[in-house]
Amino acid sequence: MITANSYSAQAIQRAYDRRKWVYSKTVAVVEWPYHEQAIDAASIQPGESVLEVAVGPGLALRELAGRVGRDTTVHGADLSPGMLSMTRQRLLDAGFARLDLRQADARRLPFADQQFDVVYNAYMLDLIPEADMPGILAEFKRVLKPGGRMVLLNMSKASAASRDMRERLYTLLPKALTLYLLGACRPVLMSPAVQAAGFMDVRRTFIAGRAPSEIVTAIRPR
Ligand SMILES: C[S@@+](CC[C@H](N)C(=O)[O-])C[C@H]1O[C@@H](n2cnc3c(N)ncnc32)[C@H](O)[C@@H]1O
Repeated sequence: MITANSYSAQAIQRAYDRRKWVYSKTVAVVEWPYHEQAIDAASIQPGESVLEVAVGPGLALRELAGRVGRDTTVHGADLSPGMLSMTRQRLLDAGFARLDLRQADARRLPFADQQFDVVYNAYMLDLIPEADMPGILAEFKRVLKPGGRMVLLNMSKASAASRDMRERLYTLLPKALTLYLLGACRPVLMSPAVQAAGFMDVRRTFIAGRAPSEIVTAIRPR
C-alpha cells in the first residue's frame, strides 16, 4: 500500500461538498455494480439495524433502506453536509422517511456501543491515512453488536505486489490535485488491518473491471 497524503477533515469535507454532483453522476455510477455485490455480501434481513458510514450521494443507503424495509430506520453518517443533503433527498424521493443522518467523522461516531447488526462502509478507508485506520475500525467494532457484520468496499488491487496505474497517478499528482481529481483515494488492501482490529471470519473478494475494488467482510466476535 502506498503512503497516503494527509488532509484535514475540513479539506476532505470541502472537497466532497464541491464534487458532490459530479461524483454522483460519474464515479458513483461506475462503482454501483461493486456496491451491489458488497450489499449482497451483508445478507441484510428486514428489520435489522444498519449503519452506513460515509454515505456519499446515497445510492447505497437507498438500497440498504430497501433491504431493512420501510418500517425500520436506516442510519447514515458523512463528513460532508452537501453529500448528506443529497442522500436525504434521494431517500425521501424514493419514499424512505425513517432516516437518521448525521454529520460525523468516522473517527468519532455519534452512535451507541453495540447498536448495529451491520456496518457498511464504501470507498472511504481508501482515502484515510494508514495511521488512522485502526481507530476507525475500532469505532466500527464498538458500534456493532456482538456477532454483527462489517462490510468494507474499497478501491484495491489484486495483491500487494501488483502494480497499479492509479497508485502511480496518486503519487505523481500534486497533493491538491490528488484530492480533487482522485477524491484522495488510492488502492488499499484492508484485510490485515481488519484482522489486527480483532474481527473474525475476515474474507476478501477482489473484483476487477472498470474500478478494481475489494470487498472485505468480517464479524465482531461475541
Ligand atoms: C469516495 S466518496 C464515497 C461515497 C459513498 N460511500 C459511495 O461509495 O458512493 C467518500 C465519502 O467519504 C466521506 N468521508 C471522507 N472521510 C470521512 C470521514 N473521516 N468520516 C466520515 N465520512 C468521510 C466523504 O465526505 C465522501 O462522501
